[in-house]
Amino acid sequence: MTIDKAYNSWADNYDAVENKTRDLEKIAAKQTLDRYNYSTVVELGCGTGKNTVWLVEKANSIIGLDFSSEMLLKAKEKIRSNKVQFQQVDLTKPWNIEDNYADLISCSLVLEHIYDLNFIFSEGFKKLKSKGIFYICELHPFKQYSGSKARFENENGIVELEVFTHHVSEYVNATTNNGFKILELKEWFDNDDKTEIPRLISFIFEKQ
Ligand SMILES: C[S@@+](CC[C@H](N)C(=O)[O-])C[C@H]1O[C@@H](n2cnc3c(N)ncnc32)[C@H](O)[C@@H]1O
Repeated sequence: MTIDKAYNSWADNYDAVENKTRDLEKIAAKQTLDRYNYSTVVELGCGTGKNTVWLVEKANSIIGLDFSSEMLLKAKEKIRSNKVQFQQVDLTKPWNIEDNYADLISCSLVLEHIYDLNFIFSEGFKKLKSKGIFYICELHPFKQYSGSKARFENENGIVELEVFTHHVSEYVNATTNNGFKILELKEWFDNDDKTEIPRLISFIFEKQ
């Protein structure tokens, strides 16, 4: 099953089923981004709008990008603000957004589905203002090494999505080679238990 079709199928219960990764990421995003100011935002792979809902409280304008029509439908049901527009697009193709538009690009739990990080960060560099920030939070590669991947259940059983493992060095190289500086790196643990493998990794990169 292609990734967009898988998310179309997952959209109906994405918000409802138990999902530790989704829930911890929301905490990570809020705690991290609360400390920054932003007005114009691009949200990559916004999905059902889990983070759009609270980003719009501070932002004046958000463009949410996602290629799953059903995930976007859920987001549109949830968010009826004229500050938010959604575009159904594939992030691996050039983004239809004016250059130097964004104070913040936010990307939560998306890059495991994208092979080429260089393309994402080179597009991101163009769309951010100078000193704009790029937040990413992904399933920690340690978790991926131990076999975790995006999966959901539908009427036919468990569906596992196609995923790519991005090592920490790939995040560092893809961003620094595309004009970013790393401002923050944090690991997020279930129940804050640092004796276990971290579930998530988050970064803040700044456009130089
Ligand atoms: C795990 S969901 C995360 C949604 C949301 N960011 C969140 O944290 O709940 C991943 C999202 O990325 C989207 N996505 C994955 N690959 C994509 C691509 N190449 N282009 C556009 N959207 C993509 C999927 O459709 C899905 O909505």
